[in-house]
Amino acid sequence: MTRVAIIGAGPSGLSQLRAFATARDNESVEGTEIPDIVCYEKQSDWGGLWNYNWRTGLDENGEPVHASMYRYLWSNGPKECLEFIDYSFEDHFGRPIGSFPPRPVLADYIKGRAEKSNIRELVRFNTSVRDVSFDQATDQFTIVSHDHVAQSTTNDLFDYVIVASGHFSFPNMPEYPGYDTFPGRIIHAHDYRDATEFSGQNVLVMGASYSAEDIASQCWKYGAASVTCTSRNGPMGFDWPEGITEKPIITHLEGRTAHFTDGTSTEIDAIISCTGYKHHFPFMADDLKLHATNRLATEMLYRGVIFQPNNKLMYLGMQDQWYTFNMFDVQAWYARDVIMGRITLPSQGEQAQWIADFAASEDDIADDYGAIDFQGAYTRDLMEQTDYPNFDTGLIDQTFKNWKKHKKESIMGYRDNGHQSPVTGTVAPAHHTSWVEALDDSLETFLG
Ligand SMILES: Cc1cc2nc3c(=O)[nH]c(=O)nc-3n(C[C@H](O)[C@H](O)[C@H](O)COP(=O)(O)OP(=O)(O)OC[C@H]3O[C@@H](n4cnc5c(N)ncnc54)[C@H](O)[C@@H]3O)c2cc1C
Ligand SMILES: NC(=O)c1ccc[n+]([C@@H]2O[C@H](COP(=O)([O-])OP(=O)(O)OC[C@H]3O[C@@H](n4cnc5c(N)ncnc54)[C@H](OP(=O)(O)O)[C@@H]3O)[C@@H](O)[C@H]2O)c1
Repeated sequence: MTRVAIIGAGPSGLSQLRAFATARDNESVEGTEIPDIVCYEKQSDWGGLWNYNWRTGLDENGEPVHASMYRYLWSNGPKECLEFIDYSFEDHFGRPIGSFPPRPVLADYIKGRAEKSNIRELVRFNTSVRDVSFDQATDQFTIVSHDHVAQSTTNDLFDYVIVASGHFSFPNMPEYPGYDTFPGRIIHAHDYRDATEFSGQNVLVMGASYSAEDIASQCWKYGAASVTCTSRNGPMGFDWPEGITEKPIITHLEGRTAHFTDGTSTEIDAIISCTGYKHHFPFMADDLKLHATNRLATEMLYRGVIFQPNNKLMYLGMQDQWYTFNMFDVQAWYARDVIMGRITLPSQGEQAQWIADFAASEDDIADDYGAIDFQGAYTRDLMEQTDYPNFDTGLIDQTFKNWKKHKKESIMGYRDNGHQSPVTGTVAPAHHTSWVEALDDSLETFLG
């Protein structure tokens, strides 16, 4: 029997398990043998980044902590844009809920579908993948993994490997002159956990993307004395409330004083580096490693999934993400169908050409609206090649655009809007408390 390994049981790995479970449960599809599947997950539960972990640095097993999410994190995009077509929010919660749930609510939703899929026995929890290699002679992969509970290391053979280990966990951490003598905290967003730590402090937030905008907003919301945002390619440009200002990038620090390229300076107590993440696969052999940047047209991957140099290896969720859970689903369905012989891949040369053309199309995108349409079209393209239930990417693209407009109108108020579900058609009700006043992010309070 064909053996398939999945590395990671976050949203992408769970999509892959769901894809195989759907084929398993669909008796109308004949003549296809479901492969033997093992999913390796180094955490003690599934959910990936959506599991909160108070730890930073190393976890209880001495492994790098995977978690990059923090307390009081709310969905930054409308939940309607990531809703599973085969498992709506109303299915899960029994009633319509607001469009921007906090992390525990989304974690509950992801795990709800996984629990219903009868796939838990396929996951080896507390098990880190240490090494993946490929033998040309046998046409098989060897995975070396370590079970932290049994304290045993195992070698297993597989015909296919699907890497779903995420790419927002290994920090990109630049250094600026004066960091080594700065008398305060310097952390990356990956190690940021609780905004109240910075209450009363003057905080410097570096970066101009989602982490920067969200962590700056949180520090302000939970009582920082001031928040100064510093970025190298122009400001975020939101209409910030009093207490948050934007500056160009710093040149250097002198003690507690941050100096900026416009000649101004300010006193700071702490630095939070919201400078993104690196794709990092230390467990993959050199010839199997994905060398990629955070973009929509991911390098080396045919259709954004199939590793072009070795088609028995696949990577899920490696794109920069407007679309998330539903895109991971269609990628997983595509990977499944390649493995099960339902999709035939073109020649290596044609794959390379597709990758080059896809990257060139991304390079031609003029703005964020174009980027949204690009990822929507990509998602639709994969959906149409599989039996994944059709959903309206046009509606989702439009929802993303409305959301962007709302953010421009009010960066602190955009989460108070409701959006339309592509699954049920319901427009989400306004949440009972506006986001700026909602200091408790628990599931009970959100649903209460
Ligand atoms: C701070 C932050 C906030 C975000 N907020 C949102 C949001 O509001 N909405 C949204 O849609 N998306 C959000 N995202 C995007 C996020 O990438 C996706 O929602 C999603 O978690 C990606 O799923 P994944 O399975 O690809 O990766 P991950 O969630 O990273 O899961 C990867 C899994 O692989 C496991 N793993 C890694 N290495 C190994 C190994 N060697 N052996 C075994 N297991 C391993 C990890 O433990 C983890 O469980 C956010 C990301 C960050 C960083
Ligand atoms: N739910 C939420 O509210 C929430 C919160 C946080 C994050 N997220 C998610 O997390 C993911 C990652 O977002 P992210 O913002 O961490 O990463 P990101 O989107 O990759 O942005 C990285 C930022 O770092 C800046 N940067 C990189 N190197 C730098 C350097 N040497 N000096 C100064 N600035 C530098 C980049 O600036 P340039 O443009 O100049 O390169 C960019 O602004 C996204 O999917 C996002 O949606 C969600």
